[in-house]
Amino acid sequence: MSLGVCYYPEQWPESRWAADARAMRELGLQTVRIAEFAWSRIEPEPGRFDWAWLDRAIDTLAAEGLKVVLGTPTAAPPAWLALDHGDVLPLDARGRAKGFGSRRHYCFSSPSLHVATRRVVEAMARRYGAHPAVIAWQTDNEYGCHDTTLSYSPAALAAFRRWLAERYGTVAALNQAWGTAFWGLQLRSFDDVGFPVGLPAPALPAHEIDWRRFASDEVLRFNRLQTGLLRQHAPGRPLLHNFMGLFADFDHHAMADDLDVAAWDNYPLGHTEVAPFLDEDERLRWARTGHPDLAAFHHDLYRGIGRGRMWVMEQQAGPVNWAPWNALPQPGMVRAWTWEAFAHGAELVSYFRWRQLPYAQEQLHSGLHLPDGRRDSGADEAAQVASERHALLAALAGEAGLARPAMAAAPGAAETRAAAADAAAQALATQPARVALLIDYPSLWMAQIQPHGADMAPLGLPFAYYSALRQLGLDIDLIGPQTELSGYALVVVAGMLHVDDALAARLTAAQAVVVLGPRTASKTAHMAISDPLPPGPLAAALPMALRGVESLRPGLRVALVPGGAGGGGGGGGGGGGGGGEGQAASHTRRWRDLLEPQRDTQVLDRHADGWPARLARGRWQAHAGVVDAATLQRWLADAARQAGLAPQALTAGGSGLRLRRRGRWQFAFNHGPGTANVPAPPDAVFALGGRALPPAGVAAWLLPEPASMA
Ligand code: GAL
Repeated sequence: MSLGVCYYPEQWPESRWAADARAMRELGLQTVRIAEFAWSRIEPEPGRFDWAWLDRAIDTLAAEGLKVVLGTPTAAPPAWLALDHGDVLPLDARGRAKGFGSRRHYCFSSPSLHVATRRVVEAMARRYGAHPAVIAWQTDNEYGCHDTTLSYSPAALAAFRRWLAERYGTVAALNQAWGTAFWGLQLRSFDDVGFPVGLPAPALPAHEIDWRRFASDEVLRFNRLQTGLLRQHAPGRPLLHNFMGLFADFDHHAMADDLDVAAWDNYPLGHTEVAPFLDEDERLRWARTGHPDLAAFHHDLYRGIGRGRMWVMEQQAGPVNWAPWNALPQPGMVRAWTWEAFAHGAELVSYFRWRQLPYAQEQLHSGLHLPDGRRDSGADEAAQVASERHALLAALAGEAGLARPAMAAAPGAAETRAAAADAAAQALATQPARVALLIDYPSLWMAQIQPHGADMAPLGLPFAYYSALRQLGLDIDLIGPQTELSGYALVVVAGMLHVDDALAARLTAAQAVVVLGPRTASKTAHMAISDPLPPGPLAAALPMALRGVESLRPGLRVALVPGGAGGGGGGGGGGGGGGGEGQAASHTRRWRDLLEPQRDTQVLDRHADGWPARLARGRWQAHAGVVDAATLQRWLADAARQAGLAPQALTAGGSGLRLRRRGRWQFAFNHGPGTANVPAPPDAVFALGGRALPPAGVAAWLLPEPASMA
């Protein structure tokens, strides 16, 4: 659990660096990330490097005991690269070049970009690869930000055709896979392939999904060029990339194969403003705290992507500048967001940015300090976390014998200290959760290519399931399709349009209770309807067939009636518990799968017109639509109980309480406007906060013994 900050020495007079570095140490920070936009300062002309200023910047930070996370500078190609080489600027869907004058002005397929990247990353890695203060490397910055994953350039088109030729071998195979029989679209050779944009009508879905797969591979290829050089010249230093919130334009699980840590940039208020699946009421309700499940969703997502290693590389510390509206966080939330990140397993939380810059595009973006250098409130909250962190680690170390003065002086003290530090680390080690929610990037692209309903945002389904599970007080792992399933009691598959045979076999062999959300396994890899009919390869385990789908415009709802035995028609109300809107208001909205049960599959709930709403067989359940939040919570509570878990009604009465365990510590957070009572045992020992949690409050209490898997 370290604290850090993002710093841009190249944007400030060198005369302030030493004072800044000292103030960072005094604030209780351990790391500083630098250089990710400094290419033009590092290499002012092609092949001429200026290291002197960066040497001094790193040494100045190191002199205060700070560790450096060094960014490769490729997110901001210099003018000499962007303007003097015709292939570097990315082209938009109409074939127009995006200009030079901001950042991320490059096409991932540009050969000139690759040549220049190789030169600068290799030179940088050779110079600082063994520097004792440089403890980690970040590649580029937020790949794909500002909608830059796709570029419709000649280089991309040539590479896309090669990619297809390698994948399909013959154009006949491509025609077959893409379904070009439709509208007479047979291709004569790979050279007939164009971009799936700028056409009078939509392109073939198979064409679109392959274009997305290709574009994702291009991002991976560019990243791999960098990680290969860094592995060679900066051995032993963890490599990371800072991924984004609400962003899925390339396959993050695949990129993680080339990284050691998944980092991400956490802007809870900005993300709450722009999340396409939140409604206006939710945006307003959580405008100063951030939606209580949005940051947590990403922490759990990126912990999974990083195979347990997750950092927050940029943490909102005050208002941002880039959302439609940019509110001030509620006092206490910067501290709460930091502790929430730690509770979800973050090894580092690094604030963005050290000081607000009085000029340029981000002049209205806050930092830990005002432009004149005085502390802003984010810095006070960061300092509070720093001292609380210190106390918590000391308590853990004390428990393990580290802090006893006699011990420290005794012979063998070093060994004792090491063992105690180890025990402290153990007490904070993140265990796997008992609940897993699957997430798959190609499926998200499929949902984007064919939303079918205008309010079916790709991340909306996984997020709705995540939020419902978290409001039941459950810890959740967001896992990729390759992740081992054996430790999980409950596995939820929501919004995963393509489930391949291998995953289907693993789900079938697992012991867990499995819940399938709407649209699950509805598509083949080429975006055709699954055969057998959806849920395709899962129909053997949960016999049913998709007869059709409908999407429902806002306001168009289908009422649910409880109990499957009575068949269709009428009814409602009564039974089942679950709070919130209650069953009388239970309904399906946005999307409905028309599912026909087969063999011994039971119908647990129906729609008023008779179509099944919830189906089950043994440890398998399926939800045939997007249901209201209270119904979803009730259904997931049923599944959790069947899985042997103990769901709690955490948010009954509208509370903003959330829980998360890390190691031996149980954390609680209050995002709501009123005091919340945490569900701690009567004899709980609190390290942070207490039983009654004020708004923006954080509590942490020690669990009696190392948490077991049971
Ligand atoms: C991030 C980006 C930073 C800065 C920040 C502002 O997306 O990585 O460089 O622009 O947003 O919130």
